[in-house]
Amino acid sequence: MERTFLMVKPDGVQRGLVGRIVSRFEDKGFKLVAGKFMHISEEQAKRHYAEHEGKPFFGKLVEFITSGPVFAMVWEGDDVIALARIAMGKTQVTEALPGTIRGDFAAHTPFNLIHGSDGPDSAKREIANFFTEAEQLDYDKAVARWI
Ligand code: TYD
Ligand code: MG
Repeated sequence: MERTFLMVKPDGVQRGLVGRIVSRFEDKGFKLVAGKFMHISEEQAKRHYAEHEGKPFFGKLVEFITSGPVFAMVWEGDDVIALARIAMGKTQVTEALPGTIRGDFAAHTPFNLIHGSDGPDSAKREIANFFTEAEQLDYDKAVARWI
């Protein structure tokens, strides 16, 4: 069982896509364990995207992600990290296939609607950057038995 950090970016909030994006992960059967509608501070954004510091798109990326509220989440499930990345679609909107969130809704990089952790180490780090242990709820999700 894994956990991943997913976040509807400011463009997704502005465009009214939070519900439809969350639905995709509910439909798949994953378990929501934490969620927060929030503004990201510049420091938190720089920590979140630390791996990209120094790259040409870094400044614009931090500016974008702090430009308005985001919906930050933790989801749990078997292989949820990889499966969420597949559901999101490729980073570049020109490569994101129909059927994926980015492929269906995003038209310009970096306005690609959703962030998802790319591996177990980044998931752990990103979750800790947004949520305390106590904010990650412990409860039974009955349907999990069949998925
Ligand atoms: P990255 O971690 O490579 O992609 P992903 O979001 O799929 O994990 O990059 C983080 C974000 O930075 C990406 O969602 C959009 C932006 N970005 C650009 O604007 N230009 C680029 O060339 C890349 C690689 C990313
Ligand atoms: Mg990434």
